[in-house]
Amino acid sequence: MNRKKIIIDCDPGQDDAVAIMVAGKNPTLEILGITVVAGNQTLDKTQKNALSIVDYLGLDIPVYAGCTRPMVRDRITAADIHGESGLAGHTFGPCKKQLEKQHAVQFIIDTLLHAEDPITLVPIGPLTNIAMAMRLEPKIIDKIERIVLMGGSYGLGNVTPAAEFNIFADGDAAHVCFTSGVPITMVGLDVTRQALCNSKIIERMSKIQNKATALFLDLMNHYCKVQKEIFNLDGGALHDPVVAAYLIDPSILVTKPMNVEIDIRGTQSYGRTNCDYFSYLKKEPTADVAVEIDVEKFWDIVEQEFHRYDRT
Ligand code: RIB
Ligand code: CA
Repeated sequence: MNRKKIIIDCDPGQDDAVAIMVAGKNPTLEILGITVVAGNQTLDKTQKNALSIVDYLGLDIPVYAGCTRPMVRDRITAADIHGESGLAGHTFGPCKKQLEKQHAVQFIIDTLLHAEDPITLVPIGPLTNIAMAMRLEPKIIDKIERIVLMGGSYGLGNVTPAAEFNIFADGDAAHVCFTSGVPITMVGLDVTRQALCNSKIIERMSKIQNKATALFLDLMNHYCKVQKEIFNLDGGALHDPVVAAYLIDPSILVTKPMNVEIDIRGTQSYGRTNCDYFSYLKKEPTADVAVEIDVEKFWDIVEQEFHRYDRT
């Protein structure tokens, strides 16, 4: 079977960790590498978290450290959600896995330039690594099959009223990506906020006894608590895993082509994904934006992928 070749770019992050769990053993995906970026926490922490997750799950996937800060704006983190470590809720044992020597941006460039088959980029954190790769080597733009990203929203933001964290954390990088001409699927808060890990989901997943669900339950214990405290959500919104599930079964989402422009000049609305839902401006679409999610099918995929760790 021709597996879909992907590079996951992430900033672990509890939901990043679950996205890696969901994608990690799926037989239809070939994860060429995991690249790490500063986002939920500083790069020294997100890179350590990515290594720990891959090592703990026993996944044979190389991990590359990327950019330590956004392209232009000042760096922010989401320690209030993800904790000081960036992966609050679970303490890993000693990690045997080491970072690859190559910088993540160079890995993305070299992999795309030498690729014979199409490659999908899967950023689930700020877009700094992706944008820097495009600026450093524009030849890669025609080699990217599609960018399937978690980020943005045509509705409310989560880090400001206007903006979602991954875009807000590096709006300029998002602008580079959304103006590149590369086909984009934007999986935003509009659908990911419906993927709520509530008590029923916790009960359902706790029936699966393996190391993946043990880690999942630890992480959700922290993540769901803070999401309730901060957003009064009836469970932790599992943003990044929606992207992983979509790659496995695109039928979980309905998307709509829209012109999406990133506000990089605003003050209150910096980092907003301005999505022309009604195509009122008659501009060319720049992304396929997720507008509906089959939440039941999403959780079925998560459960199915967790079971792949039963015999490990
Ligand atoms: O807004 C949600 C996104 O920001 C997720 O990717 C989460 O991990 C954080 O990076
Ligand atoms: Ca993330």
